[in-house]
Amino acid sequence: MLSQDENDMLTRVGPGEPAGELLRRYWHPVAIAAELTEENPTRHVRLLCEDLVLFRSTAGKVGLLAERCSHRLASLVYGRVEKRGIACQYHGWLYDTEGNILETPPENNDAICRNVKHPAYPVQKQLGLYWAYLGPLPAPVFPKYDAFVRTDGSRKLIVHPMLDCNWFQTMENAADPSHAPILHQDAEARDVVPINSTRGYIDDQPGFDFWRVPFGIMKQRNFANGETDEHPLIFPNMLRTGGTVQIRVPVDDTHTWRVDFAYKQGEPAVDLDNPPVTYMKPYKTPADGLHPFVKFETGTVPQQDHMVWETQGQIVDRTKENLSYSDRVLLDLRKLVKENIEKVQNGEDPMAVQRDPNHPIIDTNLESDLHHTGGKTGKGRPYGFKTKVRKREKA
Ligand code: FES
Ligand SMILES: [Fe+2]
Repeated sequence: MLSQDENDMLTRVGPGEPAGELLRRYWHPVAIAAELTEENPTRHVRLLCEDLVLFRSTAGKVGLLAERCSHRLASLVYGRVEKRGIACQYHGWLYDTEGNILETPPENNDAICRNVKHPAYPVQKQLGLYWAYLGPLPAPVFPKYDAFVRTDGSRKLIVHPMLDCNWFQTMENAADPSHAPILHQDAEARDVVPINSTRGYIDDQPGFDFWRVPFGIMKQRNFANGETDEHPLIFPNMLRTGGTVQIRVPVDDTHTWRVDFAYKQGEPAVDLDNPPVTYMKPYKTPADGLHPFVKFETGTVPQQDHMVWETQGQIVDRTKENLSYSDRVLLDLRKLVKENIEKVQNGEDPMAVQRDPNHPIIDTNLESDLHHTGGKTGKGRPYGFKTKVRKREKA
C-alpha cells in the first residue's frame, strides 16, 4: 500500500512531476512513420501531457513543435507545410523544425522573430516509428537493444488501441510474473487445459526469480517441467517477451499508447526502416468509453491485459491495495523508479540512458530466449508453453 503522495510520484507524467521528469530522459515513439506522408504531412501527438504537432516539410524534414501557435494559439495541426517549415493557418506565422519563427504576417516583426522561440523537440525515425525526446539537451543516443538491431529475420509493428489508463499500471503488469498463467488461462490458441479457474496454469510455474540488470529488471519464470524463460523489463517502459518488445508510451496521466516491435527469427527479412504495421481493432465497445460503461473483449492475451489495466482505474489507487508475497517484484520496480527519480533530481542520468553512439549492443538475453524449447512450439508463447495436458476441475 502506498500513500497518495507516493502514488502521485510514480504515476504523474506532466512537466515538473517526478516521474514526468524521469520519463523525459528517454526517447519515446509518437507515431508510425509511414503515416506521415506528403498527403498527410501533419499529425497531433500527445506525449507526457504535452500536445505537439509532428510535421514533415515539403523538403522532407520532420519536426516536432508545441501544438499551439505562439501567436494566438491556433492549432498547428492544421498548418500548411512548405519547404521552410510549417505556417499556421490563422495568420501565417512560419516555423522551422527547430521552432524558430521565420515570418510573422501580416507585418515583419523582427523582435518576435528574434526573441520568441517556439517549443521544439528532437525527433528521429527508428524501427519504422518516429521517436521524440522531451528532456533537457543534449538528447541521449537511441539505445541499441538486441531485438532492435537484429537484421536476420522479419520485423513488424503492432499498434494496440489507446489505453485509458496510466503508464505505471501497465509496467507493474510487465513486472508481474504470476498473472500470466491465471489471467491468460483462457486465451485463444492454447493447446492445454488449465487445472481449475482460480489457479489456471500457475502450478506449472511453481517459482519465479528476478534480479536487476543494467537496463532494468530480469524476470525469470521457472516451470515445473524444468524449463525457464526470461522476460526482461527494459527500464522504464518496455517489456521484451521473445522477440517482441512491448513499448508502453506515457501519453498523459490517464492514457498510454502500446505499440509492439516484433522481431521474428527465421522469417524473411523486410524493409528494416519501414516494417509492416498491424492495427488492432478496439478491445472494447464503445471504443472511446470508460469502465464500467463499456464491454471489453477478453479472448486474447493483449485484450485480457487491457481489460485488467483499465478496470484497475485510470490511475490505480494504491492507497487501497493489499499486496501479497508474489507481488514483491512490484516493490522492487517502485523502488527502482524512485531511485532513478532521485538520480534525475540530482542531475544524473537515470538507468539505461545511453550517451555513447558506439555503445555495444545491449544484451537482454534475447538469443537464449529465442532458443527456449517452449518457443519451438510456436503456440501462444510465452503463455502457451508445452506442458502435460490436465483436466480442468470444476471450481
Ligand atoms: S494564431 Fe497562428 S498565426 Fe495567428
Ligand atoms: Fe499479461
